[in-house]
Amino acid sequence: MIDQDTINKITETARIEEVVGDFVTLKKRGTSLIGNCPFHNEKTPSFHVSVAKGIYKCFGCGKGGDSVHFIMDHEKYSYPEALKFLANKYNIEVEETVQSPQNIEAQNARESLYIVSEFAANYFANELWTGEDGRAIGLSYFKERGFREDILKKFQLGYSPDSWDALIQSAVGAGHKEEYLEKTGLAIRNDKGRLYDRFRGRVLFPIHNFTGRIIGFGGRTLKTDKNVPKYVNSPESDIYHKSNVLYGLFHAKKAIRDADNCYLVEGYADVLAVHQAGIENVVASSGTSLTTEQIRLIGRFSENVTILYDGDAAGIKASLRGLDMILEEGLNVKVVLFPDGHDPDSYMHHVGSGEFKKYIEDNRKDFILYKASILLKEAGTDPIKRAGIIRDIVESIAKIPDDIKASVFIRECSGLLQVEERILLSELNKIRAAKFKKASGGNQPQQSSFQPSSYQQNPYQQDGPPDNLFENPGESAGPVEQVEPTDHNLIQEREIVRLLLAFGHELVTWDKIDNMYIGSFIIQNLADVSFEDEICKLIINTYRDEIENGHLPVASQFIKNEDRRIVDLAITLSTSPYSLSENWENRHNIYVRDESINLKKTIFGGLYHLKKGKIGKMLTDITKELASETDPVNQEILMQRHIMIKGVERDISKYLGTVILK
Ligand code: UTP
Ligand code: MN
Repeated sequence: MIDQDTINKITETARIEEVVGDFVTLKKRGTSLIGNCPFHNEKTPSFHVSVAKGIYKCFGCGKGGDSVHFIMDHEKYSYPEALKFLANKYNIEVEETVQSPQNIEAQNARESLYIVSEFAANYFANELWTGEDGRAIGLSYFKERGFREDILKKFQLGYSPDSWDALIQSAVGAGHKEEYLEKTGLAIRNDKGRLYDRFRGRVLFPIHNFTGRIIGFGGRTLKTDKNVPKYVNSPESDIYHKSNVLYGLFHAKKAIRDADNCYLVEGYADVLAVHQAGIENVVASSGTSLTTEQIRLIGRFSENVTILYDGDAAGIKASLRGLDMILEEGLNVKVVLFPDGHDPDSYMHHVGSGEFKKYIEDNRKDFILYKASILLKEAGTDPIKRAGIIRDIVESIAKIPDDIKASVFIRECSGLLQVEERILLSELNKIRAAKFKKASGGNQPQQSSFQPSSYQQNPYQQDGPPDNLFENPGESAGPVEQVEPTDHNLIQEREIVRLLLAFGHELVTWDKIDNMYIGSFIIQNLADVSFEDEICKLIINTYRDEIENGHLPVASQFIKNEDRRIVDLAITLSTSPYSLSENWENRHNIYVRDESINLKKTIFGGLYHLKKGKIGKMLTDITKELASETDPVNQEILMQRHIMIKGVERDISKYLGTVILK
């Protein structure tokens, strides 16, 4: 048992933003920090951290708690394990009321797997640096390849003696159970029931999870015999799941975040070499072809991935399609190609670290443009091949979830492929429409169709989009014109939608309202209001539905919506109230800042103005009804209602008159 004082010390010291920040990239949004939830897959952040309250909460999956809970959820730790983890992070000495004996049989099996893996890594490293064979065979191998000692130490590389059971002997001698050696795959039991070392006679690359614990190993043979597999890797275990591990991530994560870019290489050796060149933001998918989970793992630290390829043309072509997966996850992909069949490791040792760094910086190309250029080169002047390429490239672009980014690529590829932008757009919209139909069985595109920029700029262009450009039925092809509303009700309804979109994610504490999202607050206060404007109503209803399902919507989902009318309104509302002018940005910023300071006034003002408008309309309707009502009982009821509503109107007017100067 950890004593209460220690628990208090840990919970006071472990600041939520630091604890969560180790695993999630947080951005400031109003008074809270937000990021992509690590507990479920998402592309728009709904994971909130309140620094003031010391808590996190995901509005997508509902997970929430304090920093200890976060570690429990994230690392699948028990409460005491999470406390110890945090104590370790902050160098707090853990006082236990009953000292648990320092035995190797840890509380649970998972922990035992970690412990035996760590033991093995230490054993292998010790063999590499002090063992006779380790030094003569393992260490000299690394040195011959040009790896520096500090790099070998940093990655805890090791050597396993070429014996059937050297590790097993040592581990069992130190009190570890054979069961755990087997479960981690460090040892294998043969048909005859005999246990032997998996990695014998190999140099070892320990694989860390991204909190730095060892979960597996890659073992490279030193033999040149083609019949011996070059690498033997740990099998899947309770602590090692290949598909969501990236080799080197633990050592790279800070640098990835700082550089806002992640280099992706193929092999363990490449990670070491790139590190040795002084570039620490590098990981390898090691062995498996890149998985979606691995891409999402990178995405938690940066949106930018740069692939370092070896220059083998066949390999490049084969991997092109795999890279579309990265685009699909919304990351930006660049590639660097090495000359003469070099991989990052060989090239670094060939030219030295200074030159290597420079090469990487000078030779990074955008993936889509790069893909276009190699396919084009291959197709030569063959028109049929070229047509195929266009489709291929546009398919890649169609994977990009961000419309703005996609449209930039369309423009650039139009130049590169020498194909009119509108033809590429037409192709893009066809692919998207087909994809959407497939996904939903419906016939509306999920993302808005693109309009070539010229349609928006040139009012004289009359020929409209090409026939096959996917359009929403019944809608004009050009941008929907935004007429400034003169109707007060419409203005007020739109104002509410604007406030929802602009401030829905702000956490506020106002009088009796405690730590509530403005989005939820507004929706609650609209319970008795019915919207007239169809589009406002659509947005409000969607917002309400999502909140009821435990998810706080974000403005971008309305800006990127299948319904073009919603998109247009959302965009208009997020750029109003000032029309475009030279210093628009300035004024806009100032406006938003002022609004944020007086947020309570702004929100209450918006709600009350809307309600006052609605009430005014109710009163007019009652008056009209009264004029035509002949039944005295009904007249009485209507009059009572009129008096009651008038009272509410008065209260609201009083509030607006005294508090809101609008
Ligand atoms: P490489 O053959 O490029 O390995 O395979 P490398 O790390 O660059 O090794 P060196 O330079 O020859 O020493 C890339 C990755 O594929 C996996 C390993 O993760 C390796 O790092 N692999 C390769 C295996 O898992 N098994 C193999 O037999 C070969
Ligand atoms: Mn290599």
